[in-house]
Amino acid sequence: MDDELRRVAGALAAADTAVAFTGAGVSTASGVPSFRGEDGIWRTEFDPDDFRVGRFEADPSGFWRDRLRLHEAMFPGEVEPNAAHEALARLEDEGHLDAVVTQNTDGLHAAAGSERVLELHGSNARVVCRGCGSREDAEPIRERVRDGELPPRCECGGVYKPDVVLFGEMLPEGVLAEARRLAADSDVFLAVGSSLTVEPAASLPRLAAADGTLVLVNLEETPCSDRADFEFRADATEVLPALSAELRG
Ligand code: APR
Repeated sequence: MDDELRRVAGALAAADTAVAFTGAGVSTASGVPSFRGEDGIWRTEFDPDDFRVGRFEADPSGFWRDRLRLHEAMFPGEVEPNAAHEALARLEDEGHLDAVVTQNTDGLHAAAGSERVLELHGSNARVVCRGCGSREDAEPIRERVRDGELPPRCECGGVYKPDVVLFGEMLPEGVLAEARRLAADSDVFLAVGSSLTVEPAASLPRLAAADGTLVLVNLEETPCSDRADFEFRADATEVLPALSAELRG
């Protein structure tokens, strides 16, 4: 691994544009379960079909009841950034990374100090009213759901929805367009902790690999493994700090 790390560090040092693309695997060390990895919540406790936008629209009360259970399973307590998040924030701070494009909704990249974070799938920290479009902090609304307000409603009477992209929903257009541009422009694209199975997010590493260096860091094989220039089948909390240390020399 050391020689490959040195070569990736060299590519990052020489890159004009470098992007990190992350999935649930960067947050598992913070205690947040993944979806499809070992012990992933889609494999153990929850059915992703219960969280489709069609289910929300047909049965908002049942959706919110299940969504609260999912939230409490994913975030049993306060979660903190881990060494993988912190290494990416250092890489940005030291000029070796232009942005983090994340599928995660846990806010841990910003909490670790990353400044340019594109949240492709939205944020667990907010809810949005389906009537007037207003956005509010999510925790007080989750509290109201715990107290039996099903579904939680805005003052305008509209139903609140978690401000995350549900299966069957479009991604925020501007964010996706910027992420696509970054991927296309990137000289180095680090895809970390993602099974790379959910579109259109999973198209970004393929776009980057067209004429840039694609680096995968994932415990398991991914559909992009055959086109990666480098693949670390290892823990992100080991590889990313080692990469950051290599760049510091
Ligand atoms: N280091 C490296 N890889 C890890 C680690 C770790 N510490 N822990 C888990 N992994 C790997 C798992 O092996 C798995 O392949 O991270 C990957 C996470 O994949 P998923 O659970 O599918 O998560 P993700 O790719 O982010 O899912 C994409 O699917 O359910 C939707 O909207 C949800 O954003 C999510 C999207």
